[in-house]
Amino acid sequence: MDNRFQQYTMDKDLFITETYPADDRVDGVDKVTGKARYAAEHKLDNLAYAVFVCSTIAKGSIKNMILADAKRAAGVLDIIYYGNCPDVPGYNPYSKDPNKKGYEWWGLKPFNTNQVFSNGQPIAMVIADTLERAVHAASLVKAQYIKEDSDTDYEAAKADDTKLKKPGEYKRGEANAYKKGEVSIEAEYTLPIETHNPMELHATIAAWDGDDKLTVYDKSQGPKGTQRDLAKNFGLDEKNVRVVTEYVGGAFGSALRSWPHVPAAVIAAKKLKRPVKLVLTREQMFTTVGYRPYAWQKIGISAGKDGKLSGITHHAVSITSRYEDFGEGIVNVSQFLYNSPNVNTSYRLLPMDVNTPTWMRGPGPATGCFALESALDELSYKLNIDPIELRLINHADINPVNKLPWTTKFLKECYALGKEKIGWQNRPTVPGSVKEDGMLVGYGMAGGVFGAGRGQATAKGILNAEGNLILQSAVSDMGPGTSTAMVSMGAQFMQLPANKISFQLGDTDLPNGPTQGGSGTTSAIGTAISAVCAALQQTLKEMAIASVPAFANQKPEALKYEKGIVSVTDNASVNISYTDILKTANKPDIEVIKESGRASAEAQKYAMNSFSVHFVKLHVHPVTGVIKLKHIVSAADAGKIISENTARSQMIGGAVGGIGMALTEEVLMDNRYGRYTNANFADYHVPVNADAPPMDVVFVNKADNIISPTGAKGIGEIALVGVAPAIANAVYNATGKRVRNLPITPDKLI
Ligand code: MOS
Repeated sequence: MDNRFQQYTMDKDLFITETYPADDRVDGVDKVTGKARYAAEHKLDNLAYAVFVCSTIAKGSIKNMILADAKRAAGVLDIIYYGNCPDVPGYNPYSKDPNKKGYEWWGLKPFNTNQVFSNGQPIAMVIADTLERAVHAASLVKAQYIKEDSDTDYEAAKADDTKLKKPGEYKRGEANAYKKGEVSIEAEYTLPIETHNPMELHATIAAWDGDDKLTVYDKSQGPKGTQRDLAKNFGLDEKNVRVVTEYVGGAFGSALRSWPHVPAAVIAAKKLKRPVKLVLTREQMFTTVGYRPYAWQKIGISAGKDGKLSGITHHAVSITSRYEDFGEGIVNVSQFLYNSPNVNTSYRLLPMDVNTPTWMRGPGPATGCFALESALDELSYKLNIDPIELRLINHADINPVNKLPWTTKFLKECYALGKEKIGWQNRPTVPGSVKEDGMLVGYGMAGGVFGAGRGQATAKGILNAEGNLILQSAVSDMGPGTSTAMVSMGAQFMQLPANKISFQLGDTDLPNGPTQGGSGTTSAIGTAISAVCAALQQTLKEMAIASVPAFANQKPEALKYEKGIVSVTDNASVNISYTDILKTANKPDIEVIKESGRASAEAQKYAMNSFSVHFVKLHVHPVTGVIKLKHIVSAADAGKIISENTARSQMIGGAVGGIGMALTEEVLMDNRYGRYTNANFADYHVPVNADAPPMDVVFVNKADNIISPTGAKGIGEIALVGVAPAIANAVYNATGKRVRNLPITPDKLI
């Protein structure tokens, strides 16, 4: 037992929010004034416009493409489909060229064959001189199919063992121990397909320079990853592929990988020998970009009358496509979030005639915590123990799976902070027993968690004689405020005003940055930036010794750097500003590149997670079942908060995503055609301002210096993970109705 976790008191000092300077969004003005350029907004000469034509069957093959009308339409430059698509090295990993062997494009290869794997799959691409003409011509393209029976009925197939694949099992202690528990419950949960639906549509502009140089403006969370994939797919040197992702208008995981439109735009630009832009329609965002997969879960959980868990069993099945296996860690949360001597889990994939799902905010735990945190809540009523108390009784002091202590874990503090802020003492202990203004009142809470390991990153710093520091890394910022956080950290590490610091990102010409995902950007790049700043200070000291007479004969160790001033530690009267050092040395600037590895060896002796707890107060109309959220409080242990404003925005945005997950979001499938019926913003309901109640965010804000020198863990995923079960638990508290099939629409309450 690691007794570090025993000594915390609710000392107020623990929670004083200490932020770095300059907390305003450094790119905020550009974004709201339209100066910021998103992928589709880059203006290239001689640009042509591509538009996808998508399949209208879910399974089968194309017998014949009917192109005559479209070809005759005004402005049409070309129509590319499987019958005339140029060779793409990555489509054929067994290519005759030995240098190009082995790499296969990751995912659906547009126009590679006449096979149809899902409804809405791109089957042709019309390229015209204007977008309007391309859209019109695309409407004239028709296909004759050889249709096969498709199976998209995951509700029916989820329990059919013969259809499931890739079993993953875990067991500690005894399997199915919950069946012998003193107090137990067993229940099934479903989560529909949910789509990311970022405001910005996925888009790619591709421009070739000759046959071996490619520039791509793309919506991507990882420009370097896109560069690597495109280089291999098109048989190019990586250095000859430039990917620009200057601004990203939301992604939530949808741009963690390249979908078919990315190679398609590159193919078109190559064939036409001119730049081509391809922007997806909102409907194509549903059928060609991934989504959070439908998942079925079953939980059995038991405890003694004292509340100590005696067994957890968690099974899950989620869907994938026929051509790729996408899985995520749905059941993992049940393995390590709470102490239980007996845990067994299983997870399988269910291939269906659908497009491939992908990571969506909080991938894995968001789905798993809905089931686990709902089940714990249900168990708390059966035990007659407060749900927070039940979690405290089963608090895991060390990670029960690998028996490692956590680097930091301030989950207990999250419970205490959130409980006070939401007014937990007002929670009805008997469901459905309290009304306000004729509405049933409910309170609920649930926990969230996500991995907090630190990835590799490289950053460059350019410090110039005017006193400005430019920091660079080829990451992209899908919205969380990466540039702002990096500027804040640069200001902190260099002890300079934030207006002296800028951060450049979103271009593969910059030093290798990580893909933005998994809540890891701040700790990864921040670590590289801390190394850059330390190296710059060292260089300044060395330059002072070499160039400034007063410092001659000094050793760097005898100097100190503070707030832009280098001085002799023992004699502060010998000092010089960093700009004067550069001027004296007659250098316009100094440049430093630093690479930071993954979380250090020391950190590998620990479990690494961020934690959150979400609290909800809501009203339910007793007759119509309409739910009105009244208050959400999110408490987070995300390590040190680097930029309070952007961190708070992330938490609020994540909670709004959780509202959608709980109450409104659901892609509906018409199994007769294997086609989504609500692939648009009118019928797929993302929460709007009116759905969001007053929201509070409380950060424990304690640095985790084991994971990274920034002190940060991660925020992006824990902002959403746990919100949906907190709402479901509040709905139960208000009504006595336990809804286990998301979303909780009014019809499920009446
Ligand atoms: Mo997030 S699902 O790691 O983009």
